[in-house]
Amino acid sequence: MLRRLHHEQPDSFAFTPANQAWAEAQITKYPEGRQASAVIPLLWRAQEQEGWVTKPAIETIADMLGMAYIRVLEVTSFYFMFQMQPTGSVANIQICGTTSCMICGAEDLVAVCKEKIAAKPHTLSADGKFSWEEVECLGACTNAPMAQIGKDYYEDLTVESFSKLLDDLAAGREVTPGPQNGRYAAEPESGLTSLTDFDSGKTQYNASVQLAVDNKDGVKRIQGDEVPLLTPWVGKDGVVAGRAAAEAPPKAPEPPKPAAKQAEEAAKAGPKKSAVAEPSSPEGTAAKAAADSQADEAEPEVLKEARGGLPDDLKLLKGVGPKLEAQLNDLGFFHFDQIADWGEAEVAWVDARLKFKGRIERDGWIEQAKRLQVGDETEFAKRAKEEHIYDDKDD
Ligand code: FES
Repeated sequence: MLRRLHHEQPDSFAFTPANQAWAEAQITKYPEGRQASAVIPLLWRAQEQEGWVTKPAIETIADMLGMAYIRVLEVTSFYFMFQMQPTGSVANIQICGTTSCMICGAEDLVAVCKEKIAAKPHTLSADGKFSWEEVECLGACTNAPMAQIGKDYYEDLTVESFSKLLDDLAAGREVTPGPQNGRYAAEPESGLTSLTDFDSGKTQYNASVQLAVDNKDGVKRIQGDEVPLLTPWVGKDGVVAGRAAAEAPPKAPEPPKPAAKQAEEAAKAGPKKSAVAEPSSPEGTAAKAAADSQADEAEPEVLKEARGGLPDDLKLLKGVGPKLEAQLNDLGFFHFDQIADWGEAEVAWVDARLKFKGRIERDGWIEQAKRLQVGDETEFAKRAKEEHIYDDKDD
């Protein structure tokens, strides 16, 4: 199946205010300079909101994360969980067609989809409420055949129970995920043969189903109902858990302006200077971040070359591989004592010039360098020497 942008696209995309707040909270999970790590949760949230991942959504998310549009498109088209064409407004039904499910009747479920939804997968039903597709094993083989709808699994399906499920969804009736034949979870159909005291403390449904029911966090959300958005690591005051109140969480970039507005502003501004990196490009974002932080930077002591022509092996620092070592040498750092002397402002200076911002603090270079400069050995340095792991260490 070709994974490309659908030929019909909406004009624009914007997260709902609640989803925007949730998305910005996701970004705070990652250190400065690593915001791109939030790309999958943001794409997923956009899909839950719209039913599929649209081109404007890809562009909006790329702008939020300082990524090139093509990078976000690559992620979207790589993972089959992202729908690149419109899906049913109520549900996209994903039928598992792999061995266990096929043996237990998946083909009959597909026949129901063909009859009730559309003859072909990835096609909207006549009323636009449903679409369907066949997917690979979803890891619920003991409860075959099964289907995934939104985040939830509907298991132990028969033609009758599956047809009823579709009818209930079409009529807006509440449905309960999990086994549809009375099983609690994946115990033997004939009843428990071991762990027979399991009944004590049993909730009404099994763990994941109970959570879905308690949170109303399944098909209901896809239909736009108010459900809790969980970002427990961000307090009401906006402070991220584990960070000092004074420390502002990494700020999500301003939401992008509509294309028409951008074009209007570009026309007013005149031709762009080619030497200046575009703010929406990763280079532009990095350059801007570097410029913003210049006020707090101080250039550390740098050397033209290693003292006595004998540089320290900086790869003994956890987090420094051959490429990063070469970058550090280019900047004028050859010895552990140079790194051990860095203060906050010096770290900011080096950070702004390295490709992977935040690494110094995260990997604790300074503490490591302090030990290595006096001949002490860190756990990592010992292992690196013994196993020669830095010979092919990836940066
Ligand atoms: S074969 Fe269907 S869930 Fe594994």
